[in-house]
Amino acid sequence: MKKLIIAAIITGMAVGANAQMVTSESIQQAEFTPENEAKTPIDYRKWIFIGSPLTPNALNDGAAAFPEFHNVYVEPSAYEHFAKTGQWAEGTQIAKELALIYQNDNDELGATYEVSGHGYQQGEFNGLELLVKDNARFPEMPGGWAFFSFGHHAPPYAKTSAAFPADSCNACHADNAETDFVFTQFYPVLRSLQK
Ligand code: HEC
Repeated sequence: MKKLIIAAIITGMAVGANAQMVTSESIQQAEFTPENEAKTPIDYRKWIFIGSPLTPNALNDGAAAFPEFHNVYVEPSAYEHFAKTGQWAEGTQIAKELALIYQNDNDELGATYEVSGHGYQQGEFNGLELLVKDNARFPEMPGGWAFFSFGHHAPPYAKTSAAFPADSCNACHADNAETDFVFTQFYPVLRSLQK
């Protein structure tokens, strides 16, 4: 935190005349092992929650790749930068934690009936993924975006993850995501920030 504040002050002084500009020095960086594996982010559930896409089995021939809710969080300093510029800064971290659909006498669509009505509620956590934009560390990744998974299962998650090859994750995001490899089209919180 101290580092972040100092970096922010230095950045503030350095940009001088153009005080509006936010440079990547003020972005909280992910941590890596000497082998360039990402460490599991800490406190990502306190980051900015931007939404929870859902692709249930019931709508995917019984076998969705990720049948859980996808709870997506943006690291706060990267979120601030996006709010100001509409762009993802170097160092941006986005976490996606999976949560199974709540089980309780589920009907044929895997939904439940709760006092609010028929639908899908969140059950237990079931996996954690991370996106990091870092062209200096991952020059081979299109857009500098590296993709990590700390396991598709209940916690505890793995402590580290190697980056996936670009064609496993990055390529689909490159082809279909609206804003620099991120699916802003599915998050009204982010769309409302875009100028
Ligand atoms: C076939 C296309 C496809 C592939 C392959 C893919 N993703 Fe995604 N990803 C999506 C879509 C679509 C979304 C947003 C909607 C959703 O989550 O259903 C998304 C969202 C995400 C997000 C939240 C940020 C955002 O851009 O919305 C993360 C983190 C993520 N994916 C990680 C991964 C990782 C890690 C891999 C590889 C193991 C991967 N993705 C592979 C399509 C893909």
